[in-house]
This record gives sequence, structure tokens and C-alpha cells, in this order.
Amino acid sequence: MLEWFAIDLIKQAGEYIRLQIDESYRIERKTGKGDLVTEIDRAVEQLIVDRIREAYPDHHIVGEEGISTEPDDLKGTVWFVDPIDGTLNFIHQKRMFAISVAVMVDEVIEYGFVYDVMADELFVARRGHGATLNGRKLTTIHEHHVRDAFLSMNATWVTPNQQIAPEILAPIVRDSVGTRAHGAASLELAWLAAGRVDGYITMRNMPWDYAAGKLLVEEVGGRVVSLYGEPVRYDGKTSVLAGSETFVKDVVKHYVIAKGAALEARPDLTVTSNESYDRVRDLLVLANPHEEMVREQYETGKTYEAMLGGELVGAYMLVRRNDDLIELVNIAVKPDRQNQTIGQRMLQDAIRRAEQTGARHMLVCTGNSSIVQLRFYQQAGFRFDSVERDYFPNHGYAALEEDGLPLRDRICLTREL
Ligand code: IPD
Ligand code: CA
Ligand code: CA
Repeated sequence: MLEWFAIDLIKQAGEYIRLQIDESYRIERKTGKGDLVTEIDRAVEQLIVDRIREAYPDHHIVGEEGISTEPDDLKGTVWFVDPIDGTLNFIHQKRMFAISVAVMVDEVIEYGFVYDVMADELFVARRGHGATLNGRKLTTIHEHHVRDAFLSMNATWVTPNQQIAPEILAPIVRDSVGTRAHGAASLELAWLAAGRVDGYITMRNMPWDYAAGKLLVEEVGGRVVSLYGEPVRYDGKTSVLAGSETFVKDVVKHYVIAKGAALEARPDLTVTSNESYDRVRDLLVLANPHEEMVREQYETGKTYEAMLGGELVGAYMLVRRNDDLIELVNIAVKPDRQNQTIGQRMLQDAIRRAEQTGARHMLVCTGNSSIVQLRFYQQAGFRFDSVERDYFPNHGYAALEEDGLPLRDRICLTREL
């Protein structure tokens, strides 16, 4: 059975590392003085790859050191292998590094193995069957907010860097119970699954770093997403935010999307001026089903569209009401891209553009039953301004219920710019 095969293989590789750790070995730089590879990393990957190829010749292998059969896509069975995760720890500390192996079948991670070689601790997760540490079942992790979380985080991201504005992450260090930088992503995720830390954050991991740890965390009720709350990708580098549901939500909502930081930190979301109504029509009518009204607003205002990579994911309009006031209308996010902070980032963009027009106030109107939107605008600094009773029935809107409330009155909110 694959699970026993993998465990035997990992233990054998661990034994090899323990035998070699005090011997002399060659060390090479990869991208810089902090990114090293030793001949032990390569030998261990070779050992693992050879055994997988022998037992499962049709499986693909993606290994950090490149001794692998890289697949064109993630169909079939793919092994993600990091022979030594935490190479700097291996070289300098001779402990706190792991062998990380994940098995993906048709794009779903089915098994995750993280082996702390020097502590002889083997963490195993099987999708839908829970997670174990040296055979003992791990229990569901506790819910934590940032304020009561003990964190593991790569310290480089709170100093100036090319991936993220340090102002986003530095307050988390200050607000949490304590922060540690352990230097081995897979192990930090495994420790999260075991309740030894309450969260893990990094900006640049590869699938061989986090795939096994991710399944471990998920099997004990935790979440592993990108720093923007989106699913992590398996075809390249990604940020990783892991912890309980409460912790992940807390970080995305109160730190990442706060104060315009996310827009700058997320270079692949671009918001630009829209030039074609047909391109954004379907999005705009999600926000307001009255198409004639939307068309009219399109003629009088200015429309912006949000692209994530090559995908159109959202749109909004700004309509000038007078010298002082600009109205935000029809802000909409594509349904399968909702809850990924795109709406918040478009709102930040709208506020920034409105400021540049010289207007002093921004107006936005929504329905009495649109609880999510009412929260969304208030979180962005909007305050209640006026209520127009029975606006929706009087303007020919079809009867609608949201959150058990009939859509009836129009609520307008304003915010200073
Ligand atoms: C690294 C470690 C480190 C993480 C890096 C990884 P390596 O792996 O997991 O903690 O911050 O992103 O590349 O190079 O030691 O296998
Ligand atoms: Ca690694
Ligand atoms: Ca490695």
C-alpha cells in the first residue's frame, strides 16, 4: 500500500541523513547565501526518486533539486518531494529540518508526510482520515485570533522586500502572543497541525514546501490559503497563510486588506478604466438588475474593471454628483471570485481614484437587507447618511429577500475622502 511504501522510504532517507550529518559534504549556493543546497539534499532526492520510479513507474515526481520527471500538468499521480526542507537548519543547527513528501492524485493531495529527521517525529495525513504523529491521532486544532496566537513566520517579510509591504505583516508580530521563525515550512505546518504553533505565514513557498503540511493542517480542521485568502497553487510559488478558520479570517480581514496595503501587495490584480460596456455588462447587472439604469449610469459615469492575471473578475463605476460628491455604483465581483478580497481591493481603488478627482465625499447606496454590503462599507469608513423608504418597490424592483429580510428601503452611506 502506498502509505506504507512512503513511510518506509522516508524512514530510510532519514536514516541516511542521520548517518551523513556529521560527515563533511559539499555545499553550493543556489540564488544567494541563504539559499543553499548540499550534496546530501541531492543524494536524498535521488534515493527517494529512484525508489518511487521503481515501485510506481507511471507516477510523476516534482522534487526541489530537480532529479525528477516534471509533469506538464497535474493529472494522474504526482509526488512532491523536498528531500531536506530547512537546509540552513540542517547545515548550521543539525536539527529542525524535515523530509516533506506529498502525493497528489488528479489535482487533489491525498497523502502528506513530514518527517522531522533528528527528533524522529513522523507526521502523516491521509485525506479524509485525519492526521497522526508517530501513529498517535492528532486532535482538532483550537480557534485563535491573532491576539491570542503563537506564530511561526518567516522573518524576512517584516523587513523591506520585493514580495510584500512590511507594514502589512509587522503589526501581526506586535499583536500576537509571540512570533518564531523556525526556518522549515513543512515542519512549521506540521507543528501547527500538532497544536505547537497557532499560525504560519510566509510569502514564497513552493508546493514541495507546503503540500504535505497543508493536508496535515486541513485534516485537523485548519485552513491553508494564500495571504489573500485564495486557494494556494501547485504550479509555482505562492504565499501561505495557515491556521484555524478564525486566525485565517482575522489576518485576511484585519491586516491584509486594511488600508490599501493589499492592492500594492497584489501586483497581479489590476484595476483599469473600462472602454467597452459589453465587456462588463454581465458583472454590472449582478449589482443592479435594472439594465436601463445601469446603461444610463455607464453613459454618465466612469467605469473601471478589475483583472486578475488575464481574467476579468470585477467592475465598478464612479458617478460625479456635484463638485463635492462622487458616488460609487454597481461594484460587483464575479461569483466564483467572491470572498477573495477582490471587492475590498476594488473599493480601496475606488476611494483612491475618487480622492484624485478633488471630491470631498463619497456616496454609496444599498438595500436594507444587504447585510454583507452594509458591513463591507462600514468597515471601509462609510457612515449611515440617509434612508429612502420603499425605494425598491417604488422603483419597480422585483420582491427579494436577503438574510430573511425583505428588500425595501434604500440606505445611503457616505465617507470623507
Ligand atoms: C525553505 C524553508 C524555509 C522557507 C523557504 C523554503 P529549503 O526550504 O522551508 O523555511 O521560508 O521558503 O524554500 O530551501 O530549506 O528546502
Ligand atoms: Ca523547502
Ligand atoms: Ca529543500
